[in-house]
Amino acid sequence: MILQGIDLLMDLIMKSKYIVSLTGAGISTSAGIPDFRGPNGLYSRTDIPSDRLFDIDYFKSNPSLFYNHFAELAELFDKAVPTNGHLFLKKLETLGKLKTIITQNIDGLHKKAGNSNIIELHGNFEKYYCIECNNEVLSDDPQYKIIAKAMKNKRIPKCRKCGGIMKPNVVFFGEYVRDLEKALTEIQKADLMITMGTSLTVYPASTLPSYLPDGSKLVIINEMETPFDSKAKVVLHEDIEKVVDKLKLI
Ligand code: OAD
Repeated sequence: MILQGIDLLMDLIMKSKYIVSLTGAGISTSAGIPDFRGPNGLYSRTDIPSDRLFDIDYFKSNPSLFYNHFAELAELFDKAVPTNGHLFLKKLETLGKLKTIITQNIDGLHKKAGNSNIIELHGNFEKYYCIECNNEVLSDDPQYKIIAKAMKNKRIPKCRKCGGIMKPNVVFFGEYVRDLEKALTEIQKADLMITMGTSLTVYPASTLPSYLPDGSKLVIINEMETPFDSKAKVVLHEDIEKVVDKLKLI
C-alpha cells in the first residue's frame, strides 16, 4: 500500500528517532496571535509600518515606533495559551520522538506548552538590554517589571545605569539570530524535520531544511506554499489544528 498525506506523516513519525521541528508564526495564529505574511498577517495591516517595526537601525533612531505598536502584540502574547500545534509537539517530546524545536517565534508558547529543548532563533522577552551600555535586566530583577510595565504603557524604557534605550532580547532585522550553530547541529542529527506554520522566507531559518542529512525526511505543514515544498516528502497545505487533530496524538 502506498501511504500519502496524514497516513504517510504518521508512518514517518513512528519510524523516526530524532525529530526536529522548525516553527513559525502560523503555529500561533489559532491562539489569536497574527502571523506576518498570511492573509490577516501583520504585513497586511495599513495602520502599522511593519517593515520598520522590527528594524534595528530604525529602532535606534526612533524607538517610539516599536514601543507604540508592540504593546498590542505583547498583550496578546501574555494572554495566549498554547495551540493544539504546540501541544502536539509537547506530546512528541514526551514520546521521546521530538528532540528539539527550532522556532522563529517570540511569543513564548512552546515554553508554555512545556517543551524543554527550544532554540529561539529570534530571541525572547526573558531579558532586556541597554542598546548604549549593554546593561542587562533579567526577568528576576525588580527592574524587569518596571520595564515591562513601561512597554505595556507605550513608553520607552530607559537604562537605570546610563539612561540609554532598553530593548527586549528579540532579534530585529539587521541583528544576528541566536544559537544558529546549535540549530544546525540538531538538524544534522535529525532523521525527520517537521516545519509548521512558517513561510520559510526569512534568512537564516529559510535555509535550515537544506542542512538535513541525506536520507532524512522533510515534512511541511503550512497553509500557503513554501520554497521547500518540492523537496518535502509530505506537504500539507492545511490548518495545523486540523492536521494534528487527524493525527490523534493529543
Ligand atoms: P510568516 O507570516 O512569514 O509565515 C507564516 C505561515 O504560516 C504563512 O505561510 C501562513 O500561510 C501559515 N499559517 C498561518 N496560520 C496557519 C495555520 N493555522 N495552519 C497552517 N499554516 C498557517 O511567519 P514566519 O515564517 O514565522 O522575523 O516569519 C518569519 C519571520 O518573519 C518572523 O520571525 C519575523 C518576520 O519578519 C522578525 O521579526 C525578525
